[in-house]
Amino acid sequence: MNEISSMTEAKPIKTPTLPDAQTVTQVKHYTDRLFSFRCTRPASLRFRSGEFVMIGLMGAPDEKTGKQKPLLRAYSIASPSWDEELEFYSIKVQDGPLTSRLQHINVGDEVILRPKPVGTLVHDALLPGKRIWFFATGTGFAPFASLLREPQTYTDYDEVIITHTCREAGELTYGAEIIESLKTDELLNEVIGDGFWKKIKYYPTTTREESPKMGRITDLMRSGEAFTDLGVEPICPKNDRAMICGNLAFNIELKEMLEGYGLEEGANSEPKTYVVEKAFLD
Ligand code: A2P
Repeated sequence: MNEISSMTEAKPIKTPTLPDAQTVTQVKHYTDRLFSFRCTRPASLRFRSGEFVMIGLMGAPDEKTGKQKPLLRAYSIASPSWDEELEFYSIKVQDGPLTSRLQHINVGDEVILRPKPVGTLVHDALLPGKRIWFFATGTGFAPFASLLREPQTYTDYDEVIITHTCREAGELTYGAEIIESLKTDELLNEVIGDGFWKKIKYYPTTTREESPKMGRITDLMRSGEAFTDLGVEPICPKNDRAMICGNLAFNIELKEMLEGYGLEEGANSEPKTYVVEKAFLD
């Protein structure tokens, strides 16, 4: 047997794959601080729109032992529960342990995904109501990108209001594209019917760069301007339900405001009138 044929007959060496590895199928960069990506979905993964999972990459080898451990962070799944792929929306922190590397992933690369979805931004954690408010800052839009593409959102509520506050106008692009895509979303149009998206009111605002609407959503609600702009009655516990996802200071401030309107914090085990979750920060 010559050398070439012995090489072809030899068993291929299997490249070791990461534990719980999924393959990246799409990467989109929005600003120097934000990007989104899509990856394959494990066939066994079931989740409720709005939940999060742990995702990440293999960490650097330990200096003493040489062993590598996965570096994982909680990420809201931005795609809806029916989607055959998974989508994530991420910040890029230049010296962040995970996102300094995650921001450089390409199509075909592998990410680690622990298939144990959890979270409180789910319909099950809220009592029935007429109108639902989704309040986001920055990457806190991610769970709402999932819920906005979830048919249950429109069967459960007559009206859906999504507010998104960011520092700069470019940081609104991901959310604006999701909202735009709803108009032609085949599944939603088929399940809910034509014009379901007219139930949606989208209220994007910026705080540090000129845009059509400026200011923090909290200030705009306190002054009443947000309700006037949206043409809706202020929040009341009888009709309104809310989900909050943003930075810590925002979550705390808005929680207090919602409680001032008479809403109460719910959980999976005890559904009430609002729920809150912190957006991912590296
Ligand atoms: P601001 O620019 O006035 O701080 P970040 O990128 O730091 O997470 O912030 C995202 C957005 O959330 C920014 O527009 C920021 O406004 C806003 N924000 C931060 N803290 C609060 C808060 N307590 N209430 C409302 N909005 C907030």
